[in-house]
Amino acid sequence: MATTDRVRIDRTHLGRLLARERELFAERTPGSRERFAESSRYLIGGVPMQWMEMWVGGHPVFFERAHGNRITDVDGNELIDFCLGDTGAMAGHSPEPTFAAVAHRMQELGGVTTMLPSDDATWVGRDLARRFGMAKWTFALTATDANRWALRTCRVLTGRPRTLVMSYNYHGSVDESMIVLDEDGRPVSRPGNIGPQVDPTVTSRVVEFNDLAALERELAHGDVACVLAEPALTNIGIVLPDPGYWDEAQRLIRAAGALLIIDETHTLSAGPGGCTRAWGLEPDLVTLGKSIAGGVPIGAYGVSVAVADRIAAEIDTGMVDTSGIGGTLAGNPLCLAAARGTLEHVLTDEAFARMIELGSRFHHGVEEIIDRHRVPWTVEGLGARAELRFAAVKPRNGGESRAAHDAEVEEWLHLYLLNRGILITPFHNMSLMCPATSADDVDRHLALLDEGTAELVAG
Ligand SMILES: Cc1ncc(COP(=O)(O)O)c(C=O)c1O
Repeated sequence: MATTDRVRIDRTHLGRLLARERELFAERTPGSRERFAESSRYLIGGVPMQWMEMWVGGHPVFFERAHGNRITDVDGNELIDFCLGDTGAMAGHSPEPTFAAVAHRMQELGGVTTMLPSDDATWVGRDLARRFGMAKWTFALTATDANRWALRTCRVLTGRPRTLVMSYNYHGSVDESMIVLDEDGRPVSRPGNIGPQVDPTVTSRVVEFNDLAALERELAHGDVACVLAEPALTNIGIVLPDPGYWDEAQRLIRAAGALLIIDETHTLSAGPGGCTRAWGLEPDLVTLGKSIAGGVPIGAYGVSVAVADRIAAEIDTGMVDTSGIGGTLAGNPLCLAAARGTLEHVLTDEAFARMIELGSRFHHGVEEIIDRHRVPWTVEGLGARAELRFAAVKPRNGGESRAAHDAEVEEWLHLYLLNRGILITPFHNMSLMCPATSADDVDRHLALLDEGTAELVAG
């Protein structure tokens, strides 16, 4: 459909709908509001982690229980969960096999943290090698740490100081990644980058995603140790690579003597081995986290045979005290029992096939709704994940995607769905399928989006 055929959203009408949804939310969540007032006395921002301040409605929903893809809040509202802990619960909430593995480890075997390896570590390393084609693995507690340690590894292997990232990337609170291009195309510290260790323009280089000429130009400085990238952007809306982008980007990175770290923390939605396997990518390192232990904190990174050999030859891994890599609780038996239970029985190849089919049903259903109501929006899918965006043309990079942000429509959408029992990720409009998601759940979302959009454009 031509972008000129799209309707304009009437802002006054939108304002009225928004006011109604805010009121409805207040009526539905008195228990959460009370608890938020109390928690605000003791917790910074009233929440245990600052991202939880980003929910719509003035306060977050306090939840009581969560199983599969259902959350029940303290006011007794049941929610179909497409947020899934912003991917941390991609396996669903408290999946039975993960729970059994954790219970077995804690109750029968014992040993939550021992500073000794367990058999589960080898099993998980072998399974991740099978999935991603990376030869050797190590574990962290978060994807952020996996990225931090991967960057350090690349710096020591190449003897170069800088990291190159895509503008409006997100790889966790990694100092080197908090850099974007401003409206004039200049590298700057990302707005909202709290307490940077140093100005990231000193440590990093930044280019727009899908811009091969810029990638080549920045690599030509000869000081880039590694490119750290998601294979498709997922943290500023989903932005897919242009056809052939990664073939050429990988060639340029290799030719420049830099290493490529592919961060699959979110893009695991593309399949059991993420985009790396689905698209036949050949990174030097893969980083991961969030979902692979069924919600129990974990991070991991894997390296190619060549990188593994270079590590063996060049890094004195005996220098654990001051190496900057590792952590007391990383690789603990509890995490690894949870990861084994999850990878062996929950996030299986078969589960991915079903989740991806539902992702496609979701994506194409949203596309039809956009076309039927002629709203100036687009939707993008990546396997089990889909994302609605308030731009009539699909953005090709982070800068364009950021410009599509529409805070008012976004608040309306999130509240409209939440008030009718659907939870989507609070940052932008991301929805994720888990093994417990059903076609009926997807259709419920589509029916609500259809009704809500009809009302929105009727103004
Ligand atoms: C692509 C990517 N990498 C890394 C991270 C960091 O994960 P964590 O916050 O669990 O460390 C995130 C978090 O959203 C992410 O989206």
